[in-house]
Amino acid sequence: VEHLLGIKYLNTNDIDLIFKTADHFKEVINRPIKKVPSLRDITIANLFFENSTRTKLSFELAEKRLSADVINFSASQSSVKKGETLIDTVNNILSMKVDIVVMRHPNVGAGVFLSKHVDAKIINAGDGTHEHPTQALLDSYSIREKLGSVKGKKIVIVGDVLHSRVALSNIFALQLQGAKVKVCGPTTLIPKYITSLGVEVETNLKKALEWCDVANVLRVQHERMDIKYFPSTREYTQLFGINKEILDNLGKKIVIMHPGPINRGVEITSDVADSNESIILNQVENGVAVRMAVIYLLAQQVKR
Ligand code: CP
Repeated sequence: VEHLLGIKYLNTNDIDLIFKTADHFKEVINRPIKKVPSLRDITIANLFFENSTRTKLSFELAEKRLSADVINFSASQSSVKKGETLIDTVNNILSMKVDIVVMRHPNVGAGVFLSKHVDAKIINAGDGTHEHPTQALLDSYSIREKLGSVKGKKIVIVGDVLHSRVALSNIFALQLQGAKVKVCGPTTLIPKYITSLGVEVETNLKKALEWCDVANVLRVQHERMDIKYFPSTREYTQLFGINKEILDNLGKKIVIMHPGPINRGVEITSDVADSNESIILNQVENGVAVRMAVIYLLAQQVKR
């Protein structure tokens, strides 16, 4: 593939290659000297038109571990505030001889749009409610690390699926690797099209958790919420919040994931988020190696 715009453009061979490459980089970043000189001739721009902590820092660290030159751009501190367009912004940055653009943008399809208008490799770091491909890759990589493989595993994605790019990218990635996927949440936060993707909807949290090996718990995205469709936060937590009591009554251990940032006490309690069953910080750790792999593989296609 020429860019990483979404998981829907990848096949199983692409994912296998990314994970094999990430295995190598995970070993590298656990050495005393965490850096390799592979991309000394590559320049990467991180363009963030929406807030981020994990994705932004993880990409920057991945790029620096590969010895690329890195420039960072936040829309809120830029001339976008004076009305400059996306294409003008990116072309001005590219004229400084940038090879790869990592972009987070609030609009669905922003990465695809950019890939058609500028001459650089594009990595989608989240486009609105659409896709967040590197998050899904690091999520699958973390399941593989914890459970040995993704194939045949039962994963339930819990919560605000409607507004979640993490959910859609995870569904594509997990199905591609042979996992069984269900979603669980209030019907107001489950998109109608979800069953057409071969995903079953379970509205009873207890049943969903009894079925699964892994629960990937989503953040309730208050900032994208149309208030009239949302159950109250208190109702949401009562019906779909993951707490220690519900997990203790399952009679089995399941793996707990969350892409972050967490609304502690809303979709998940602190004792669950910080428990031995939680791999939330492993996900963040693996994000660096997975992003190194994605960047390294795309950089092989940059004309030198
Ligand atoms: N998981 C994730 O995308 O987190 P950030 O929004 O902090 O990047």
